[in-house]
Amino acid sequence: MEIKKVGVVGCGIMGGGIAQVAAQAGFEVVASEINETLLKKGLGGIESNLKRNVEKGRMKPEEMAAIMGRIKGTLTTKDFGDCDLVIEAAVENMELKKKIFADLDQVTPKHTILASNTSSMSIIDMAMATKRPDKVLGIHFFNPVPVMRLIEIVRTIATSDETIAAGQAFAKALGKTTVLAKDTAGFIVNRILSSLMATAVRMYENGVASKEDIDTAVQLGLNHPMGPLALADLVGIDTCVAIIDTLYNEFKDPQYIVPPGMRDMVTAGYLGRKTGKGFYDYSKQ
Ligand code: CAA
Repeated sequence: MEIKKVGVVGCGIMGGGIAQVAAQAGFEVVASEINETLLKKGLGGIESNLKRNVEKGRMKPEEMAAIMGRIKGTLTTKDFGDCDLVIEAAVENMELKKKIFADLDQVTPKHTILASNTSSMSIIDMAMATKRPDKVLGIHFFNPVPVMRLIEIVRTIATSDETIAAGQAFAKALGKTTVLAKDTAGFIVNRILSSLMATAVRMYENGVASKEDIDTAVQLGLNHPMGPLALADLVGIDTCVAIIDTLYNEFKDPQYIVPPGMRDMVTAGYLGRKTGKGFYDYSKQ
C-alpha cells in the first residue's frame, strides 16, 4: 500500500519531530494538537529546527518553505480523513491512547494504517480499541527524531504482514534504519535503556558518584553520546518514569522499580530540558 499522506497526533517533542521528518521526506502531513497554544508551539519548533538547517547552509530557504507548506496543523481529528497512515504521539497514558485509536478508527478510511509511537506500552491494547487490529503497529522513533537513525517497528499478534511491510517502507522513505520487535514492554531499546537509567539514578541517590561523574563515566567509558542522567533530562523525567513503570508492571523485575527521587522530580515538575530543570539546570540556556 502506498503512503502519501501522514497524520501525526500530538505535536510535542516527538510528534513535532515525526511531522518534520515526514514532510522533509516529501509526505503531506497533518499534525494535530489539543489546543491552539500547543499547536503553535509544535509548529514553531519545527520551523526553528528547519531554520537552523538554512542558517547552516544545509537547506535552501525555498526548500524550508516547501516543507512547512506540506505540514497542516489542526485541532480536529476529522482532518485525518484522507491520511494513509496516522501515528499517535500523545502522552504515555493508555486510556487516552485507547480513546485516540477508537476515534481514529471512526474518522479514517478502512485502508488507513494506525500506528503508535509509544515508548513502551502495549500496542495490542490500542489495536483492540479499533475494528482493524491487523492494521495497527508500533512505529517508534527516538529523540531527537531528525537526528536519530533508528525506528523500532513493533508487531502485535494481530498485525498483518502488509502492515509491517508498509511501516518498514515508510521508515525507509524517511532514511531511517528499522528493527523489528515483538509487542512486549519497552520493545528493544527502552528495555535496555531503562535498566541503565534506573541503575544510574540509584547510584546517584546512593552517593556512589556525582551526577556529572556518572554521566562522564558512561560517555567516555562506554562511548555513549551522552550520560544516562543527561539523557533522562532530554527524554523527559515524566516519560522515563512512565516507561520504567510499564516495564515493572509487565516483568515485575526489581531492576525496573522507579528510583524514588525520580518520582519526586515528576511531582515537583523537574521534568528535564522541557521545564528548564531536571538532573541539571537548563534555565540559563
Ligand atoms: N532537533 C534537531 N536536531 C538536533 C537536535 C534536536 N532536538 N538536537 C541536536 N540536533 C542536531 C544539531 O543540529 C547538530 O547538528 P549541527 O551541529 O550540524 O547543526 C547535531 O544534532 C549535534 O548536536 P549538538 O552539536 O548540539 O550536540 P551533540 O553533538 O551533543 O548531539 C545529541 C546532541 C544528538 C542529542 C547527542 O547528544 C545524542 O545523540 N544523544 C543521545 C540521544 C539518544 O540516546 N536518544 C535516544 C533517547 S531514548 C528515546 O528517544 C526512546 C524513547 O522512547 C524515550
